Amino acid sequence: MEGLNNSANNDESDKTSMKNGEATSATDSTTASVPVSHEPCTKPDYLEHSNVRYNAANTLLLDDDNDAVMMEWERPLMNAHASILTHNGTKGKRVMNIGFGLGIIDTALQSYEPSLHVIIEAHPTVYEKMISDGWDKKPNVRICFGKWQDELPKLIAEGLEFDGIFYDTYGEHFTDLEDFHEGMAKVLHKPDGIYSFFNGLAPDNLFFHGVACNCVKIQLSHLGLDSEFAQCEIQVDEKDWDGVRRKYWHGRNTYYLPIVTWKKDSA
Ligand SMILES: C[S@@+](CC[C@H](N)C(=O)[O-])C[C@H]1O[C@@H](n2cnc3c(N)ncnc32)[C@H](O)[C@@H]1O
Repeated sequence: MEGLNNSANNDESDKTSMKNGEATSATDSTTASVPVSHEPCTKPDYLEHSNVRYNAANTLLLDDDNDAVMMEWERPLMNAHASILTHNGTKGKRVMNIGFGLGIIDTALQSYEPSLHVIIEAHPTVYEKMISDGWDKKPNVRICFGKWQDELPKLIAEGLEFDGIFYDTYGEHFTDLEDFHEGMAKVLHKPDGIYSFFNGLAPDNLFFHGVACNCVKIQLSHLGLDSEFAQCEIQVDEKDWDGVRRKYWHGRNTYYLPIVTWKKDSA
């Protein structure tokens, strides 16, 4: 997914600002002089984009601006998240994923034969793709079509609980992530539920990335949760960005995968 927006995203030392220094947005006259790489990642109107589309190979999901909603190079990361969320690939877990995208993490989660697999997805085009690919007929899958902001409260009201929860949306703000955490903590099984999210916080600057990770850690700590960040080595090739207007990963080879669990004393 595109990096969650926060104030750290506009750092001048961003590598891509050198590479894309001349590039400007063609979508909004008010940002016409802003380099593409310095535009905010938040897109409050994304869910109204009418030209959200998959490429023929199903390896790329683009929005109306040709920005990438999801890309194939994230597959190893999604596989790692899925393994951790199912407690190292244990079968029969109850899992919930927010944001279907290319369905990479949901495919990985299915391979662990969950006893309940809830997917919340809000974009109509993505939802149509889920239906045409038969996700509504997969074992123990329940699709909640709508924004997590509307769907999660219904699951809380039902009294559902999950062993593993993943959040990876698009165009949302850091404050949305914080809001999600408030609800997530109500459905994460105690004592051994595991929560994680795509860690695209301040992706263009390692210092600010560290700051953002610590902000999340503090918020989750107030909810009774401990956060660790497991290092995963990744490689993203230059050619992976073909056809994508703006990069959302900036050459860093280490991904810090969040592993969030209940504190021992709050469980
Ligand atoms: C980055 S993609 C998810 C990729 C996914 N992790 C995968 O493995 O392919 C983000 C998804 O979140 C969806 N989305 C964006 N905002 C949402 C919201 N508020 N509630 C639910 N889904 C949302 C988008 O339509 C998109 O399908």
